[in-house]
Amino acid sequence: MTLYDSYQRPIDYLRVSVTDRCNLRCVYCMPPEGVPWREHAEILTFEEIALVVRVAAELGIRKVRLTGGEPLVRRGIVQLVGQLAEIPGIEDLSMTTNGLLLASMARDLAAAGLQRVNVSLDSLDPERFARLTRGGALENVLAGIDAAVNAGLQPLKINTVVIRGWNDDEVLQFAEKARRDGWHVRFIEFMPVGRGGMWSPAAFVPAAEIRARIEATLGPLLPEDSPRGAGPARYYRFPEGMGTIGLISAVSEHFCSGCNRLRLSADGRLRPCLLCDEEIDLRSVLRNGAGADEIRERLLVAIRNKPRGHRLDEQSFPQGRAMSEIGG
Ligand code: 5AD
Ligand code: SF4
Repeated sequence: MTLYDSYQRPIDYLRVSVTDRCNLRCVYCMPPEGVPWREHAEILTFEEIALVVRVAAELGIRKVRLTGGEPLVRRGIVQLVGQLAEIPGIEDLSMTTNGLLLASMARDLAAAGLQRVNVSLDSLDPERFARLTRGGALENVLAGIDAAVNAGLQPLKINTVVIRGWNDDEVLQFAEKARRDGWHVRFIEFMPVGRGGMWSPAAFVPAAEIRARIEATLGPLLPEDSPRGAGPARYYRFPEGMGTIGLISAVSEHFCSGCNRLRLSADGRLRPCLLCDEEIDLRSVLRNGAGADEIRERLLVAIRNKPRGHRLDEQSFPQGRAMSEIGG
């Protein structure tokens, strides 16, 4: 079965944040001191997450992506992957990670049933990477990427948030990684969310500019069919080379009309739209002894309430949560 929301969009994708904690403090995401972590009791247990995913799968959810915070810092994450991989109906199980811990975990994750990963990486320069992430070691991420590819977690995509004055001068280097090394690089427009307080029109680089900069030096990009699990990105490739370039223009162009997803926060709130603050409480239902029927009802409410689109252009910015709690 497939469920449709009020605007006839099929909803088949659930993003599950498994923790609000992170082992980095990216400057645009968090203040230097971090954001206060939630108490363990506030965070859904594996059993609760698995129950939600099982009910969601019965309603037509086919794709699940685990996010955070940083999902690999949640203790027992490999076991959760195993639990979710067994749920009938889930055809695509993936994860978005900062890659720091991937080198040691990629094999186990793949063996447990994880199919692929997206790795967030905003700079290829070790010193700048350390500054951007407030202490991260680039070499660990690069080792994580290699380990993931070797473990078969493919296609592996790199997510790069482009911020003027911070890393916009590296767009070409990342594009070269696509052309020469076969990376799938997705450039993400900087969105006005997060507790870093860094967003401004001056820091924002529109996707069209990113594309123009690449084409000015590396030549024309050819529109490309999307690799598996394509979300809101537009994909391109070079006339030669295996890699692809994705452009995610959440701010400059609405792609809301094609949005197919719901989000579940680590503390058990359903969020119909990343960029709107409305949420539906699932945790209390999970913990008041209600069964699958009530969870199904709440999922249906979330789908029914999914807004037509964000309203960033009306200066309506989400305020309620840090990005590290929603998972991007
Ligand atoms: N704009 C765009 N992307 C963001 N991310 C975090 N904050 C923002 C923002 N303000 C990205 C991370 C990661 C993903 C989970 O979300 O860099 O790639
Ligand atoms: Fe952690 Fe991701 Fe936020 Fe960076 S952007 S601090 S990796 S949650």
